Amino acid sequence: QRPIVRLLSCPGTVAKDLRRDEQPSGSVETGFEDKIPKRRFSEMQNERREQAQRTVLIHCPEKISENKFLKYLSQFGPINNHFFYESFGLYAVVEFCQKESIGSLQNGTHTPSTAMETAIPFRSRFFNLKLKNQTSERSRVRSSNQLPRSNKQLFELLCYAESEFQLTEENTKLRYLTCSLIEDMAAAYFPDCIVRPFGSSVNTFGKLGCDLDMFLDLDETRNLSAHKISGNFLMEFQVKNVPSERIATQKILSVLGECLDHFGPGCVGVQKILNARCPLVRFSHQASGFQCDLTTNNRIALTSSELLYIYGALDSRVRALVFSVRCWARAHSLTSSIPGAWITNFSLTMMVIFFLQRRSPPILPTLDSLKTLADAEDKCVIEGNNCTFVRDLSRIKPSQNTETLELLLKEFFEYFGNFAFDKNSINIRQGREQNKPDSSPLYIQNPFETSLNISKNVSQSQLQKFVDLARESAWILQQEDTDRPSISSNRPWGLVSLLLPSAPNRKSFTKKKSNKFAIETVKNLLESLKGNRTENFTKTSGK
Ligand code: CTP
Ligand code: MG
Repeated sequence: QRPIVRLLSCPGTVAKDLRRDEQPSGSVETGFEDKIPKRRFSEMQNERREQAQRTVLIHCPEKISENKFLKYLSQFGPINNHFFYESFGLYAVVEFCQKESIGSLQNGTHTPSTAMETAIPFRSRFFNLKLKNQTSERSRVRSSNQLPRSNKQLFELLCYAESEFQLTEENTKLRYLTCSLIEDMAAAYFPDCIVRPFGSSVNTFGKLGCDLDMFLDLDETRNLSAHKISGNFLMEFQVKNVPSERIATQKILSVLGECLDHFGPGCVGVQKILNARCPLVRFSHQASGFQCDLTTNNRIALTSSELLYIYGALDSRVRALVFSVRCWARAHSLTSSIPGAWITNFSLTMMVIFFLQRRSPPILPTLDSLKTLADAEDKCVIEGNNCTFVRDLSRIKPSQNTETLELLLKEFFEYFGNFAFDKNSINIRQGREQNKPDSSPLYIQNPFETSLNISKNVSQSQLQKFVDLARESAWILQQEDTDRPSISSNRPWGLVSLLLPSAPNRKSFTKKKSNKFAIETVKNLLESLKGNRTENFTKTSGK
């Protein structure tokens, strides 16, 4: 029994209402099998988006009877699903069976008025529920946990090792709902727009607490004009023109930023970051606790999310290894939530994919081979970049490789501990090293915009830190193979040892001093993680 497999089997609510088929390559058990989606990315996105449009967010009084709450809301229409969560107050996410119910709920809702302030009469799907009689309720509802940090005992582990917790079904629903609420606001200007989540919220590599990347898709509006209309005329909208796509993006985001700032219920700390390579509006959505990045004209990033979704679905070892590597990186402060010269989770994910393409036999196919498998429907060119690859998961053959996760983790560290970063770039399109086109310390080619380096921000010293830690970790795992200590010994071992932040006295491989207290803490927390995870993560009153 070694803890590595247990920790790799990250906790998370098992989503019960997602359809999933059997996993094709069941040869290596990772604990990630039950979360593997088998549907097309677009099907999954459309279904969840439609669900979110029938859903409302309600801030509730602290003490509320669930039955009375549901009875009250059922007046507006039948309810399909609901759950409560806590985030600086009690909130309910309620999904109606029909979209029309939202209109009746809004019609039965009034805009509050206070003596001191004036409310901007903006009608959204985010409500505040009040008790008519303050003293009448005593019972409390059970709520699910949306925040990565809380005072729960289990979360001490997060503070220590920043263990990665997969997104739960409820958290995913809340992410789609938040996008849908923002879409309502953007729809005031662009009635047919779609706000789609992308990045780690949807690529199956997200964890609780990751940011919510949103993309304002205006192409739906543009595509409407593609309908064939008979007659001798062509009708066009009268529009304003600007010199470039970038300026158009900046103007749209600038106005939406103002709109969110002034009218958006629960949207705080709005920052317009319009001069970035990819202009964005950053804000916090207080009720959900999500840090949101809203972009537009960013379809390629959505396509990368779809590609990662496919890679994550092909073999359960992919996500298990990505989660482990990110957990390791976080524990050693190689990654950070503050932007800077650090390696990002996105870059680490690409490195894992590349590494898995390099195994023999390969665990993952190259992007070029996914392109070869594509059919006419998969053809996709965005801004001159070829983004064609197969979308139907059943057309990709499962890998013949049966290597265990432990071996892969060790080999990952070995591989990147010895990678010629000074000469070569990482390229998941071809699945082999290429000569670096410029002198960036770390060069990971953007799979679709092939002239871009996704890790351009990484400094030489951060790369060196990564390489040193990878070597050290490979060495620790190697030691374990030759001389496996027993559980009762004080030396750190397995993934636990890799998660321990390097103590100042761990300068050389030979001078490693173990910290008994820290090891005991991690061991205890791992035990509590095992024991508590079902309790803590499946708590929800949703059906
Ligand atoms: N992206 C990109 N090139 C970059 C950075 C980001 O194409 N240099 C795209 C990727 O599709 C990425 C998305 O933007 O998934 C969101 O970026 P980010 O939030 O940094 O990464 P996530 O994958 O969402 O991971 P995290 O959990 O750290 O947010
Ligand atoms: Mg993100």
